[in-house]
Amino acid sequence: MADVKVLVLLMFTLSVTCIRAKEKPPNFVIMLMDDMGWGDLGVFGEPNKETPYLDKMAQEGMVLPNFYSANPLCSPSRAALMSGRLPIRNGFYTTNDHARNAYTPQVIMGGIPDEEILLPEILKDAGYRNKIIGKWHLGQQPQYHPLKHGFDEWFGAPNCHFGPYNNKNTPNIPVYKNAEMVGRYYQDFVIDKQTGESNLTQMYIQEALTFLEAEASSGSPFFLYWAVDATHEPLYASKPFLGKSHRGLYGDAVMELDFGVGQILNKLMALGVAENTFVFFSSDNGAATYAKTHGGSNGPFLCGKETTFEGGMREPAIAWWPNRIKPGQGIDFCPGESIANVTTHDQVNNTAQPLLFHVGRDPGEKYFIRPHTSEYKQNIGGILSVVEDHKKHLVPGKPQLNWCDNSVMNWSPPGCEKLGQCYKGPPSNPQKCVWPH
Ligand SMILES: *[C@@H]1O[C@H](CO)[C@@H](O)[C@H](O)[C@H]1NC(C)=O
Ligand SMILES: *[C@@H]1O[C@H](CO)[C@@H](O)[C@H](O)[C@H]1NC(C)=O
Ligand SMILES: *[C@@H]1O[C@H](CO)[C@@H](O)[C@H](O)[C@H]1NC(C)=O
Repeated sequence: MADVKVLVLLMFTLSVTCIRAKEKPPNFVIMLMDDMGWGDLGVFGEPNKETPYLDKMAQEGMVLPNFYSANPLCSPSRAALMSGRLPIRNGFYTTNDHARNAYTPQVIMGGIPDEEILLPEILKDAGYRNKIIGKWHLGQQPQYHPLKHGFDEWFGAPNCHFGPYNNKNTPNIPVYKNAEMVGRYYQDFVIDKQTGESNLTQMYIQEALTFLEAEASSGSPFFLYWAVDATHEPLYASKPFLGKSHRGLYGDAVMELDFGVGQILNKLMALGVAENTFVFFSSDNGAATYAKTHGGSNGPFLCGKETTFEGGMREPAIAWWPNRIKPGQGIDFCPGESIANVTTHDQVNNTAQPLLFHVGRDPGEKYFIRPHTSEYKQNIGGILSVVEDHKKHLVPGKPQLNWCDNSVMNWSPPGCEKLGQCYKGPPSNPQKCVWPH
């Protein structure tokens, strides 16, 4: 009898544990870039392919190629992301000047109103621990700070990292750890505007990893808002990344942020919480095309930051959640064309029953000829015999496209000296080619 009781109790405990484990709310990680453009990621077509971690994240998750910010400028865009409401509703706009001036330099008095219910506030009520790392930009007066609006922890600054200032006409921007500042940009948190060197991204990565470690072992759900800003002028990167990209300091900043993305995703996996964590990557607005070589790329889209053209508001976006989000989603090879069993994302082996189209009456190849029809049967025989004949006489060459090596690209084609366009490639490192798209 006692044994039965113990067993029943054990089963009860186990089932409760299972239900708890199943019902444990997911963690959230939002990685929000600053002024990073749609065209800055390899997966979105950046030709140097210098974002391997983001490209991998895209491969493992879902790309959202038509994702928009609510505004082409940082503060209103961030206010909208946090509140779920358009800037015109949440107050992050101005009526006394052109709309593109609706941001929060340190002279601004306003900030996020108390009435706005921010994402971290909702999550806090649901038992989450929330941390913001990086740029807040929703008001620098203390009443507007992150810890007053749902966040439990903060490491970062209320404003952009502009400066250095002389602390006479203008103070240097403070960097906060939670409710108190722990230093200022250019004094304690170095950004060398000559070399572009700064360790800020590394600090932001470390802060994220430390938070994830602590939260994963605490067992309560968490929300990490990783609002890094190295791709916003003045651009910066730490020494190991300086000069590493083919795109100048901007590219270095992108590479370091990409590295950080990889660190965070790897940490989630190492901690065993990846399958219960929804990760979303995006940017606050389009690349600052006016910054020319100090800005990013909006790919094929017109203009950029501070404009309402596509380049200003269409953002790179990737969602990642192992075992929840099916890998490899969202890259549409035939945008706008969805034809059953023709434009499928999966590679289908049609060798046994080739698809046949009549390009005379159907040049768009929208309607394949059904295999059971006499038209198919009449034509396929002739086609297949031509194929067979061709195969018989075919002498295959040695495959040339199996191996890839970044060092063999057009780094220094003949004549490049005259144009000043000779570039140095990486050391040889042959690898089997992979085509993640
Ligand atoms: C970044 O950190 C390294 C290693 O601690 C240090 O040598 C370097 O001076 C730092 N750079 C800046 C710009 O603070
Ligand atoms: C598409 O293929 C599925 C099986 O893969 C089949 O059931 C369906 O009938 C096909 N649709 C058309 C329009 O041929
Ligand atoms: C495709 O199908 C053909 C015929 O059914 C088969 O011989 C061939 O091995 C298949 N190819 C692949 C890559 O599966």
